[in-house]
Amino acid sequence: MASHETTTPVADLTLEEKAALVSGRDFWRTAQLEGHGLGSIMLTDGPHGLRKQVADPDRIGLEAAVPATCFPTAATLGSTWDVDLVRRVGEALGAQTRANQVSVLLGPGVNIKRSPLCGRNFEYVSEDPYLSGRIGAGLVAGIQSAGVGASLKHFAANNQETDRMRVSAEVDERTLREIYLPAFEHVVTTTQPWTVMCSYNRINGVHASRDPWLLTTVLREEWGLEGLVVSDWGAVVDAPDSVAAGLDLEMPGTAGRSAAAIVAAVRSGRLAEADLDTAATRVLALVARAQPALAEPGTADLDAHHVLAREAAAAGSVLLANTPVDGAPLLPLAPGARLAVVGELARSPRYQGAGSSQVTPTQVDDLLTALGERLGAHVPFAPGYTVDGGDADAALREDAARVASGADVVVVFLGLPAAAESEGFDRTHLDLPANQVAALEAVAAANPRVVVVLANGGVVTMPWAHHAPAILETWLGGQAAGSAIADVLLGLREPGGRLAETIPHRLVDTPSFGAFPGDPGRPGTVRYGEGVLVGYRWYDTREMDVAFPFGHGLGYTRFEFASPTATVTGAGRDVEVRVAVRVTNTGTRTGSEVVQVYVADPESQVTRPTRELKGFAKVRLEPGESREVTVTLGARDLSYWHPGLRRWVVEGGAFRIEVGASSRDLRGSVEVQVDGEPLWLPLDEDSTLGEWRVHPVGGPLVERALAAGPAVDAGLAAMIDEMPMRLLASFGIGGFDPQSLAALVAEAQAAG
Ligand code: BGC
Repeated sequence: MASHETTTPVADLTLEEKAALVSGRDFWRTAQLEGHGLGSIMLTDGPHGLRKQVADPDRIGLEAAVPATCFPTAATLGSTWDVDLVRRVGEALGAQTRANQVSVLLGPGVNIKRSPLCGRNFEYVSEDPYLSGRIGAGLVAGIQSAGVGASLKHFAANNQETDRMRVSAEVDERTLREIYLPAFEHVVTTTQPWTVMCSYNRINGVHASRDPWLLTTVLREEWGLEGLVVSDWGAVVDAPDSVAAGLDLEMPGTAGRSAAAIVAAVRSGRLAEADLDTAATRVLALVARAQPALAEPGTADLDAHHVLAREAAAAGSVLLANTPVDGAPLLPLAPGARLAVVGELARSPRYQGAGSSQVTPTQVDDLLTALGERLGAHVPFAPGYTVDGGDADAALREDAARVASGADVVVVFLGLPAAAESEGFDRTHLDLPANQVAALEAVAAANPRVVVVLANGGVVTMPWAHHAPAILETWLGGQAAGSAIADVLLGLREPGGRLAETIPHRLVDTPSFGAFPGDPGRPGTVRYGEGVLVGYRWYDTREMDVAFPFGHGLGYTRFEFASPTATVTGAGRDVEVRVAVRVTNTGTRTGSEVVQVYVADPESQVTRPTRELKGFAKVRLEPGESREVTVTLGARDLSYWHPGLRRWVVEGGAFRIEVGASSRDLRGSVEVQVDGEPLWLPLDEDSTLGEWRVHPVGGPLVERALAAGPAVDAGLAAMIDEMPMRLLASFGIGGFDPQSLAALVAEAQAAG
């Protein structure tokens, strides 16, 4: 249908038209208003490739989609720690979205990986909010540079698939502010996504889709979102409530039911028409900003995008181990080495996850073919196992051992079967399939020169790691993963990735163990009892051993870090700390290092994680080259969310700035003194005597009153600091009574 160049004013629309506009026309399109010449626009998945349904957009379900480049999933993209590269991936995603006349790509997802069991972790970036925010922002900026919109999802606290459509995440505000919201905040404040998608779940009992605090106070008033808030598909439970809370567009459409409810709510006075006008205006604005791209969709260069997908897959592959065997590491493979490949996944690759993000790829590279092509020779191969764990495995293992015994190096490709992880359910363990581990053991017994390559969306534990001197974790690397892995194994590219999530030894070590996915019931709840100690914040603070720490990843060269320096300017909310460190490539190959900056606040009123990532830079250096890397930290990077004051605070004192190559491989640290801001809670009857005593205004007042009153019994004196003043007054301790306390409170409040 013909499109409008300019925005239709909301004043031209009837109540019924406005109500129709704020819920979808069908599964993927916004409503059209024929009388106003207003056409629909299309929003489709996302996030690591376009999933535009071939069938009519009014058909529900996971239908076949038009071919599109399947880029690496967020798990791999997050492991690149490379915002520029991720932005280029975003540009390509945007170009394909535009070329297919889709106006909004539903992604990226920046929910925090609270537990490695979450079935959708492949679609999320990291266990760390800082990294998630930077990678998410790169993607959104790239996508939107093509003149189409992104949809930042799933806002908020959607950290599991179990009962995701109803469960209530019970999470305190400090934890929300420090862990689960900052990635969204960073993307919103730095890139202004065209849309933000609210999640299905409830937060502390309130559905995200009808939570005015979440959708209006935080998202718009605090962060300044200008774009539109869309529901996750089917997340609206009460359309008028959602409009009042700040939701602008319900998707998919509900065949007019929501519109009728909204009209009735306005007529009855339950919903203010001004709220509906606000939502309808945002839909009109979204439709208008989509028009230039729809008028000129252009074409996407699918060959170039495949090449980019390959570059990104290599950049996100994490070399976990590369222990020398007979004096030399196995990777990169020595030229001329006789190679064998074991593992069905090497010829039948798994490169993306299941659910709404599943793309129909334009082509798929498998490792076995890619290696054969690069080497110009047939590579001996044995499947070793069946992906579905069938009966033939004993014979397959024997064959694999035979093939392995004739090689100088054997690459064993292992990973999670598609059935093991998906949107819609969570995993219950972190193990690789037993038949795959058995295949590895059979191969290692025949030839210990083993390189394990892994493909899995969520973390797997590695009790078998002693069988593999080299381990390359590729996550779910997209349609070009096979050729990218061949490039990395052969040393044509470096494994550029660093872990965006900790690999624990055991499931029982994980922060939310026992509290994930929560208590069943109707409605179910999940208690985020670990608070801010998520991911490495948990393992590092509790000094637990892990298999591979956050930020870890080896390359094919070595880097030395000089001692870092830090310069402080300003104080309190205006403080800046400029951190500088010289990094030198001391190896023999060109390579990149991710310089990671962690902040530690050893003394604070609240319990803080031992260290938190607050900056990073990926630098590429020639052999012998050295560069000074600088990272500037602002007040927010030193702050915590004060639960009593309900705002970010910089508490003065010493901070330790740690610089390193992982959260456990710190190459240097420097201490700085920062002048903080006053952190005094307002005093009242409920404040304890101790709180009064340390308060700069209340302290002298309360001491004066105590000195004037009768002496406090020696036995009591030790206990009363912890008592609220109300109780002292009620018991008559220290000479207080309700009247004198009320006067004291009034005096303290008047004095500020
Ligand atoms: C998913 C979203 C997705 C939407 C549309 C939902 O079930 O949670 O991520 O964008 O469906 O397919």
